[in-house]
Amino acid sequence: MKSLVIGTGGREHALARSLARDPDAEVHAAPGNPGIAEVASLHDVDPMDGADVAALATRLGVDLVVVGPEAPLVAGVADAVRAAGIACYGPSWEAARLEGSKAFSKDVMAAAGVPTARSFVCTTPDEAAAALDALGAPYVVKDDGLAAGKGVVVTTDRDEALAHAAACERVVVEEFLDGPEVSLFAVCDGTTARALQPAQDFKRIFDGGRGPNTGGMGAYSPLPWAPPDLAEQVLATVVQPTLDEMVRRESPFLGTLYVGLALTADGPRVIEFNCRFGDPDVQPVLALLTSSLGDLLKAAADGDLSAVPPPTFADGASVTVVMASAGYPESSSTGDVIVGTETLAVETDVDVIHAGTVRSDDGRLVTAGGRVLAVRAVGSDVADARAKAYEGINTISFPGAQWRRDIAAEPLGVVEGASLTQEN
Ligand code: AMP
Ligand code: GLY
Repeated sequence: MKSLVIGTGGREHALARSLARDPDAEVHAAPGNPGIAEVASLHDVDPMDGADVAALATRLGVDLVVVGPEAPLVAGVADAVRAAGIACYGPSWEAARLEGSKAFSKDVMAAAGVPTARSFVCTTPDEAAAALDALGAPYVVKDDGLAAGKGVVVTTDRDEALAHAAACERVVVEEFLDGPEVSLFAVCDGTTARALQPAQDFKRIFDGGRGPNTGGMGAYSPLPWAPPDLAEQVLATVVQPTLDEMVRRESPFLGTLYVGLALTADGPRVIEFNCRFGDPDVQPVLALLTSSLGDLLKAAADGDLSAVPPPTFADGASVTVVMASAGYPESSSTGDVIVGTETLAVETDVDVIHAGTVRSDDGRLVTAGGRVLAVRAVGSDVADARAKAYEGINTISFPGAQWRRDIAAEPLGVVEGASLTQEN
């Protein structure tokens, strides 16, 4: 199969690597990054420009386009590719509102009877204050629009909660959900879904779940402590009712429904929906996938998941640890020279997933963003995979590099932000 992956991050690198595993695979990516270049042919494209992406896909004659990040999906890039007659894995702009607008996704959840936090949509300071008082502390205030993982404030400080609400045009104020967080990726064909193995993402910048939220500093899968039927339960109570509701609204959802869950004392509750795979949380999941990713995503893009068997996963576990540049998450540092990634290229159980890297004019690998790269390892269990990932981290360096030392250290996953008493 000839495929084209749109995007530049760690998610796209992990996707491209998995797609490239199929014996008959020919993988292209645009714009890509230096890591993706090792497994795919790179092309220049504006990922936000649907016409540009569709023209590239047509010129290359690909069988499948996979649009990685949320911004192009929300902008309608998948619609443009499909309009050109090419199979595309990723939701329409209309369906991508499940991530693009928190108010929209809460409305769909309510209509579909999906278990989630009680919430209020607020546009004025008075409304926000009333909502905070109705729900009580800890306070959760979410920017309504896309905010690259930084639009959410969880705090016991009412003034801080109010200040965040005032800084956003429209916010969702919601009930605090207490319990371990889980990422579940459902591959959807518009009417049905197949779940991948659950993962857990460490979202705060510092060890022990302290400091500001980030896009994710590390992840692991599977979750030995989670109920074995968690994926099936979430498909039945969350994913299928959501797909049915989207069909009812004449806007079927085709692509990844990323269900961010809190496993509360009352059962799984949805924290958020995203319309694409999570990064880095999808990295360990894909490392363990033994069935063909290309066939799975193509079947979904063709609207018929029943054409392929359910995805299968290797025994054992995978852990991924992110290295971020100086200043992240408030800012990032570019142009810092990265050394040591070549050493890991010979390892079979460990790989380097590039996110914010570029080649400088003289060919050196340098930092180009907040989350720079991740070291991903597969092992016999979480502890083994974790040890290998940290051995890998120790061989890589760049000025100002920061990473957490406690990714997957606690299999019970004391949760980032969801357990303020223990964590903050
Ligand atoms: P989101 O962008 O919705 O994923 O939120 C970012 C992070 O904020 C989540 O990963 C949680 O750690 C935290 N969070 C969001 N909503 C809630 C909630 N209702 N209760 C507790 N924590 C939350
Ligand atoms: N790792 C969280 C996300 O991709 O949104």
